[in-house]
This record gives sequence, structure tokens and C-alpha cells, in this order.
Amino acid sequence: MNDSSMLSDELHEYWSGIANTFQWRKKWDSLQTGNFDECNVQWFNGARLNITENCLDRHLEKRRHKKALIFEPNNPNEAAIFYTYGELHLSVCRFANLLKSKGVKKGDVVCFYMGMTPELMIGILACARIGAIHTVVFGGFSPQSLRGRLEDSNAKIIITHDGGYRGDKVTPLKSMVDEAIENLSFVETVLVVKRTHTEIQMKQGRDYFYDVLIKECELFCPAVEVEAEDPLFILYTSGSTGKPKGLVHTTAGYMVHVGNSFKDVFQIKENDIFWCTADIGWITGHSYLTYGPLLNGSTTVMFEGVPNYPTPARFWEVIEKHKVTHLYTAPTAIRSLEKFGSDIPESFSMKSLKVLGSVGEPINEEAWQWYHKYVGKERCPIVDTWWQTETGGIMISPIAGVTKLKPAHATLPLIGIVPVLVDEKGREENAMVASGNLCIKYPWPSLARTIYGDHERFKLTYFSTYKGLYFTGDGARRDEDGFYRITGRVDDVINVSGHRIGTAEVEEAINEHLLITESAVVGFPHEIKGQGIYAFVTCNDDLILPEVLIKEIRATVEKVIGPIAKPDVIQIVHSLPKTRSGKIMRRILRKIVENDLGNIGDTSTLLNPECVEDIIKGKKS
Ligand code: PRX
Repeated sequence: MNDSSMLSDELHEYWSGIANTFQWRKKWDSLQTGNFDECNVQWFNGARLNITENCLDRHLEKRRHKKALIFEPNNPNEAAIFYTYGELHLSVCRFANLLKSKGVKKGDVVCFYMGMTPELMIGILACARIGAIHTVVFGGFSPQSLRGRLEDSNAKIIITHDGGYRGDKVTPLKSMVDEAIENLSFVETVLVVKRTHTEIQMKQGRDYFYDVLIKECELFCPAVEVEAEDPLFILYTSGSTGKPKGLVHTTAGYMVHVGNSFKDVFQIKENDIFWCTADIGWITGHSYLTYGPLLNGSTTVMFEGVPNYPTPARFWEVIEKHKVTHLYTAPTAIRSLEKFGSDIPESFSMKSLKVLGSVGEPINEEAWQWYHKYVGKERCPIVDTWWQTETGGIMISPIAGVTKLKPAHATLPLIGIVPVLVDEKGREENAMVASGNLCIKYPWPSLARTIYGDHERFKLTYFSTYKGLYFTGDGARRDEDGFYRITGRVDDVINVSGHRIGTAEVEEAINEHLLITESAVVGFPHEIKGQGIYAFVTCNDDLILPEVLIKEIRATVEKVIGPIAKPDVIQIVHSLPKTRSGKIMRRILRKIVENDLGNIGDTSTLLNPECVEDIIKGKKS
């Protein structure tokens, strides 16, 4: 064992056993090196591989004619599209050749800003085929957000749609790209996949239609051999401070944990049909819509639309149509469908279903029970999977059909994962029943390795709060069975509909409005979204009508970040509660929006204690 490894012999043996089930061009010289303190964790050094050989080529002998991908379009009257493993392999090779023809090489960053169609999945695999690094930007982000991510990642090529379908809306993705890249000289190529036939402008020498170019491309592309620690993708996510960070995942470690956790948690069998409803713009869509299922030779369902279009029966129709055995979705989706009543799912037998999954935010007990009763018909276990963009794969979750179920509990860590709870001082809570901040004690293969271009920030964010531990940013409780219940973020991050949004980011966006002097954003409990965004603002103009200002603020946030970050509630106040050193006391604002007035604490030491009463009076429910 390597000296700098943090792993015990047991963990070492466990992970090498798992890694041995994958296909390598060359195996590793050392299983794991580095540690959290030095922020230099690496896995499988010396190994060489290509992840697409594990996702595609190695299945061809036995599963060439097996369905790899089922694409269900937004419009239920449009035919579903199926790809066998053989067809997916050809499509990925072809797309890889297209990328090569546009000069994309190993190590280059390729940006995807698309709706959910097969070309998105094929495109990211095509990058992996040639060792290029994919970075998918969720199509719901604004052009300004896209621009920020492009500037950070330096992607020279963007792949987009003319427009994207989501429910009854068409998002003009190509013109949003045009806006995002205006005067960004490093962007050389924009590839446009036709989908909505929305009218678009094409810039000669920069913009190309995918369907024209792909016809010219050969059907085989050799897989480029990469090093274990070569980056596979960058994915941006929000933190408590600053702009979104580009988390970098590397090839071998990500593959090993994601492939294995998919198999273990969901207890997948050969003929199962797995449907993860997440968008590929988020980590769940990377790990358990794309890589996890394909690494296991499973059939994965990709859905272009939204849960309530054209009716709130759509999920249940898709399950029956494609005989889905595993449904993996977010509590927000469950709660939004619960709102339409249980009659709708009750009218579908959904006999094919075997396992239900939940991800992205804490699932409340009521939603858990509804999911269990009306969707799973009380016969399907629910796996409440806790993990993060940073962890790459599932960390704490029941094993379907094995772990005792406990509503709203993520239950037990997966083998190889060692969580601990710590108090504010970083002392480990040793008692079984405990609560505290959730940390992970030892490295696991799919831990993100860095923040693209800012390793110091990576170290500071995750490894500096508690010495020798990875800090998740979440709080949790542990019960007498050792079961974990995640209670939510303990930092300035809000989880809106399972999407992570940094309060600082929203404040910065609001402050771009010229009439705003200051703002403070906090999360509040929201019946459907889990958390909603509540913004307190001070304005330097008494004449503007509050309703006009509120509308403008919402539009500003939509423009700067995207519609998902628009505040649900905006309260205009005279001043924000501040300490004598001028720091905004968000803790007080949080208590106010949570209606927890008894716990506001002593306000007499504030610079402006009188404002608290005013804010409470003006609070919008
Ligand atoms: O707060 C936790 C919450 O989502 C955060 C991670 O968000 P993101 O990186 O966008 O990844 C979401 C998909 C994995 C976590 O810090 N979270 C995720 N899953 C759960 C959860 N909270 C409670 N229970 C979960 N099962």
C-alpha cells in the first residue's frame, strides 16, 4: 500500500475488488494516494482506460441488440426513439469523429447547452471517447450564466439546439448562445442540432448544423487511451460564496464508484428499465441517467419533458408505456404531482415498477408516504439517496430490498464510505444517536478532484473547515440504528426544487438593479419546492411603485442567473439588520421567514435593532 494513502487495508481491498470488475487498458500502480489535508487525493494512478469502452464496447458481444437508450419526447404524440448498444456505439463514434473534424483534441473542453435529446448523451460520450472534457450547462440558465461558465472553462466549441422543448415552452437556445458568446473570441465553433425548427441566425465560419456534418463522419472511432486521473468532465455548481464553481471529475475513480453504486443501490437486473428524470445538466443526469446505467449494460430512459405536461399523468403514462422498473426522481416532482391528487396514479397499475428512488433534497415524510403508497403501490422500496455534485455518486442510501426502510431517512452509508458527524469545533460525535455537521472521513474514488482553475478554493471550501475531513455543507442526525437523516444545508446555499442556489449569487444578481442598495437572500420552507427564495431589499428610490420594482428585480435575476433563481418573495425594507461591524444578520432574517420568532435571539446588540420589528410587520406570508 502506498504510504500517503488514507485507506485502511480493508477499504483498500474493497475498492480494488470493485475496480477489478471494470475494463482497463492497463491497471493501476497505486490504488489511492494523497489525503484531505493536502487536498491531493488521487485514485488508480498509473492506470489507463477509456470510459466509453466500459459503457459501450464491452457490452457489444452480449448486448449489441439490447436497448441501451429509450428516448421519450416532450410531446407524447411524437414517437419514442430507441438505441441499441450497437447503435449507441456507432452514434458515439460518429459524433466523436465530428468533434475531431472540428479540431477537438484530448484535454479540450466542449460545452453543451441543450435540451434533453439523445444527441446530448451521445455528445458527452463522444467527448469521453476522444479524451475531451465535457461541461454541460443546464438549458434553464441564462445567456449571462452560460457566458460566465464559458469564460471560466475556455470552451472553444459549444453544442446546442435551435430550440429546446420543455412542456408547452420552447427555449430559443441557439439565440441564447449567440447572446452569450458575443465578443467571446475564443469560441470557434457552434454546432446546432435541429429540434424545434425555431428561426435562428447562423454565423458563417462559426456555426454549423449537426445533421449536415454528421453524415460525412465515419462510423468507427477508436477510443483514446487516457490516464486514470485525466479529467472526464467539469460541472458547475453553486456554493455559499462567489460565482459557481466548476467541479472537476476524473475518469477512473468516477467510473468505479458510479458504476458500482448504480448496481448496488438499485439492485439492477439484466432486463430492468431504469428511468432517471433528472436533466443531464445536473450531476444526477451525468451519473445515473448516463454513466451508471451504461457502465452496467442497462437500459436507460431519457425524458425530454416535464412531469405535468401535457397532463399530470405523464410520468405514470411513461412508466406504463416503457415498462419502467426503476423510477429515480426528486421530491419536488413527487410533491408537485401529489398536489393533483392520488386518483391519477391510482388509475395506473404501474405493474412493472420494482424500485423507487429519491434524490436532490430531503424528502418529507408525507411525500415519502404518498410516493410509496400511490406510485409504488406499497410494494416498491424507496431508496432515498444522499449525495452531491462533489461526491460524484451516491454516498448514503438504502440498498433496494435489503435495507430496512425508514421514511425520510437516507439510512446507511454505502460500503467504502465512512461518514462522521462533527460539532462546531470539529469534534467527532461518537455516540450512535447524534446530530451535527456531516463530513466524510476517508477518500472515495468519485470525489471531485478540484475546482477548475482554482485549487485553493477547492481546498478552502471542503477541507479547511474540519481538519482531515471532507465537509459536505449538510447537517444530519443519526438514530439508534445508525440511520442518517439529512436535515439540509448548514451554509448559505438554498435547495430550490432540488437545485442548489447560492444566496450570495442571487444577492449579487439583485444588486445589479440600479435602484437596489442592498439585499439579503434566505431560504424559506416551500410546500412544493422544498425551499423557496425570500429576498429582502433596500431601495434608493422612494418613487418607484413596489410592484414595479419587484417585477424588475425578478426580471434582473432571470437575466443574470436564469428563471430557477427568481425570488418567490421580495420584501422591500428600510434597512437590513446589521451587526455593529456592518455585517448583515441573515440568521435573524431566516428565523423571521421560518416564522420562528421565539428563536430570533437578542437583537439589542444590533446596529439597528428597530428594523427587526418593521421587517416582521411587513413580512409576506
Ligand atoms: O443538501 C444536500 C441535497 O443536495 C445537495 C447536493 O446538491 P447537488 O450537488 O446539486 O446534487 C444533487 C443531486 C445529488 C446536498 O448537499 N441532497 C441531495 N440528496 C439528498 C439531499 N438532501 C437530503 N436527502 C437527499 N437524499
